[in-house]
Amino acid sequence: MTIHTAVSDRFELITVPRSRGVPSFAQDVARGLRSKPKRLPSKYFYDEVGSALFDTITRLPEYYLTRAETEILSQWGWQIVRVLDAPLDFVELGSGSAIKTRLLIGEALRVQPQLQYSPIDISTEAIRASSMALVESYSALSVRAYAGDYFDVLGSHALVSDRKMLAMFMGSNIGNYEPGEAKQLLALLGGALRAGDGLLLGADLKKDAATLELAYNDPTGVTAAFDRNLLARINRELDGAFELSNFTHVVRYDAARGAVDSFLEARERASVPIRSLGLRVPFAAGERIHTESSYKFTVEEIAALGRAAGFRPQAVWHDRAKRFSVQLLVKQ
Ligand code: AVJ
Repeated sequence: MTIHTAVSDRFELITVPRSRGVPSFAQDVARGLRSKPKRLPSKYFYDEVGSALFDTITRLPEYYLTRAETEILSQWGWQIVRVLDAPLDFVELGSGSAIKTRLLIGEALRVQPQLQYSPIDISTEAIRASSMALVESYSALSVRAYAGDYFDVLGSHALVSDRKMLAMFMGSNIGNYEPGEAKQLLALLGGALRAGDGLLLGADLKKDAATLELAYNDPTGVTAAFDRNLLARINRELDGAFELSNFTHVVRYDAARGAVDSFLEARERASVPIRSLGLRVPFAAGERIHTESSYKFTVEEIAALGRAAGFRPQAVWHDRAKRFSVQLLVKQ
């Protein structure tokens, strides 16, 4: 069951409900803080405060990812929209903070008179705000937005189009999934596309540990605040009593897995009540909560991930410093 709301004649919002069995924030927190080692899912970073902090991260000198991807899209966007034959419809996982998506929308509207853009995002508010702004900027654009979990939306068969589709999964967001989940997500996306449709994947590349660790541990502490917001969110929403200053943001690149891991490490031992869960969480001095993995790839690893989900690698673009990649995969 989906809920359709026509917001304007060029903006329709479709709400796809959570499927049964998907755990809530409370359930994930209870489970993650009871396990050994302790962990919290990184998807919970993005409440209002966290999204604003992430926006600041994308402008930090150390966090090169967003700038590198934007460089690729500004330099090569014209070519990206010309590899597949127009007219295209766009589908995007994540509703994008406009600038990168706008580069591709602008280029597409040079080769076709109209464009339908379908962002999928868990946050109804984020998707509403970005969609409204987009239809206001482009009179030839119509937006059919999906509010829901990626897996739920892609599994709901709600995504329908009789035109060729270009799906976009940018910003190295693929890197936040464990390898098995990433494969599942691409396979599900492949199932929603037809032969000849495209998938544009923006992914950060493997590189030296120092550069990677600095990108996730800026000296001004914005990323540390972003990480600690997870505990602040537990305090706010679940009546927790984390003392934020007792937790240090720690970052390690694990070259064997190709992942930058982020942790919150307790300086001193503590026992933290989370009242709405009826839980008290004990911490030893130096004990860590694993809060995020950001996987890094080679161009060949991305291609292999695509092939395993039924795509054929078609083209790849890099920024001038070759730190980041945007790869076009075509559904077989
Ligand atoms: C949202 C997946 C792009 O892993 O780079 C930035 C978020 N975390 N700094 C990433 C993030 C810490 C992130 N992505």
